[in-house]
Amino acid sequence: MEIDADEKDKGLVLLKQGAEARVFESTFVGRKSIVKERFSKKYRHPTLDSKLTLKRLNAEARCMTKARKLGVTTPVLFSVDPVLHTLIFEFVEGPMVKDLFLEFGSNGIVEERLQDIATQIGNSIAKLHDGGLIHGDLTTSNMLIRKDTNQLVLIDFGLSFTSTLPEDKAVDLYVLERALISMHSSCGNVMEKVLAAYRKSSKQWCSTTNKLAQVRQRGRKRSMVG
Ligand SMILES: Nc1ncnc2c1ncn2[C@@H]1O[C@H](COP(=O)(O)OP(=O)(O)O)[C@@H](O)[C@H]1O
Ligand SMILES: [Mg+2]
Repeated sequence: MEIDADEKDKGLVLLKQGAEARVFESTFVGRKSIVKERFSKKYRHPTLDSKLTLKRLNAEARCMTKARKLGVTTPVLFSVDPVLHTLIFEFVEGPMVKDLFLEFGSNGIVEERLQDIATQIGNSIAKLHDGGLIHGDLTTSNMLIRKDTNQLVLIDFGLSFTSTLPEDKAVDLYVLERALISMHSSCGNVMEKVLAAYRKSSKQWCSTTNKLAQVRQRGRKRSMVG
């Protein structure tokens, strides 16, 4: 399905300007939606660049769809436009996990809620990993909590790829661990809760968590040098 010019120009509200994409709020056939437009990095060769942008756009759409098939809640994909380099998906009403966790920190932790979200995060990552999908950017900005159901929704599959290697899964978890430590230390050890759910949920938890221990050590060595 193509967006006609009118539809496109009508009420595009910029939500986020990133390094490789702009994210707008808009409407798509009467439904509140998100438009994610990938753009070129100007310093690359234009033709090569356009090809790469398109490749990433398709990969993001494919990975998001794959995640959904694996039983992970993601926004519904409405449209892929290879000419405008845009993805259009369902607007998920509800806060980012980032904001919830920051709130928990300042208002005193509502332990039950924190536990529930951490469990959902662990279960979702386990489903992705057991299905051979690596998210690639597991931060609390890329997780939303649907307002009406309190369900975790994973977004931003822009760096996702398929892999069954324990190493790739461990690095995926490590990215989240670092993000939790640097942003949400006031919530206590959320990663421990995430990993507890992950271990229960993933069939390959053993090889992945063994690798995670190695990845952590590598990280530690690097930070001592740098
Ligand atoms: N489907 C969605 N529903 C509601 N908000 C969204 C949705 N997708 C993205 N957002 C908001 O836009 C922000 C940026 O989107 P994201 O896909 O993460 O782009 P980027 O690659 O630039 O990080 C998210 O952190 C979130 O706040
Ligand atoms: Mg993001």
